[in-house]
Amino acid sequence: MLENRRFLRRAVTYLAGTAGIRQFLDIGTGLPTADNTHEVAQRIAPSSRVVYVDNDPLVLVHARALLTGNPSGATAYVSADLRDPSAILRDPALVSTLDLTRPVALMLIAVLHFVGEEDDPYAVVRALVSALPPGSFLAISHATSDYLPPAVVADLNGGKHGQGRLRTRAEFARFFDGTSLVEPGVVPLSEWRDEAETRPRPAAEETAMYAAVSRVV
Ligand SMILES: C[S@@+](CC[C@H](N)C(=O)[O-])C[C@H]1O[C@@H](n2cnc3c(N)ncnc32)[C@H](O)[C@@H]1O
Repeated sequence: MLENRRFLRRAVTYLAGTAGIRQFLDIGTGLPTADNTHEVAQRIAPSSRVVYVDNDPLVLVHARALLTGNPSGATAYVSADLRDPSAILRDPALVSTLDLTRPVALMLIAVLHFVGEEDDPYAVVRALVSALPPGSFLAISHATSDYLPPAVVADLNGGKHGQGRLRTRAEFARFFDGTSLVEPGVVPLSEWRDEAETRPRPAAEETAMYAAVSRVV
């Protein structure tokens, strides 16, 4: 989880810095912690606008209290389910905070593995990405089965621990179909643009997550 948060910080730093993105849609926000999306983005560009979305009411209560942001930018909170992208896209708080005619970074950080095949996560991502103009970005981190023993994977994917699915590298990469991956492409989470991190870095087996960022074309 620590490495996942470090990826979030590096991804937002890249998006707000190198890519010049000023609008973020962060779905699966989680409980506020250090270096939340708007904090990282507004440190680089105070005018950054961020919409947080989660389906856990407790997360939203804490987010509203703690994720207040820079007055020259904007933060908003939407109580909605990732599996219902059209409800997210038409939510009044989103509509009044983000200009969907201008580039947006869609952040799906450690959330898509909670969406099983029965809810067609690929269609969900396609619906969200197709609402964004070219020049937008997609950032995803996701737990993988690739480094875990088959028995553990069968157990975790079997539904006993709730809905969701660990995915292989190829299954993860499919989320980026139709978009253009930025360097270094699909990599173990801890390896994504990690040049500034202290050494030694964790091995791929230790995080068992993939990450990538792509450009909407
Ligand atoms: C592991 S946390 C990740 C939090 C944060 N993105 C991070 O990377 O630190 C997953 C979050 O996704 C939310 N979540 C899970 N399924 C969801 C869904 N179907 N729709 C919206 N949020 C969901 C959970 O409530 C939780 O806050």
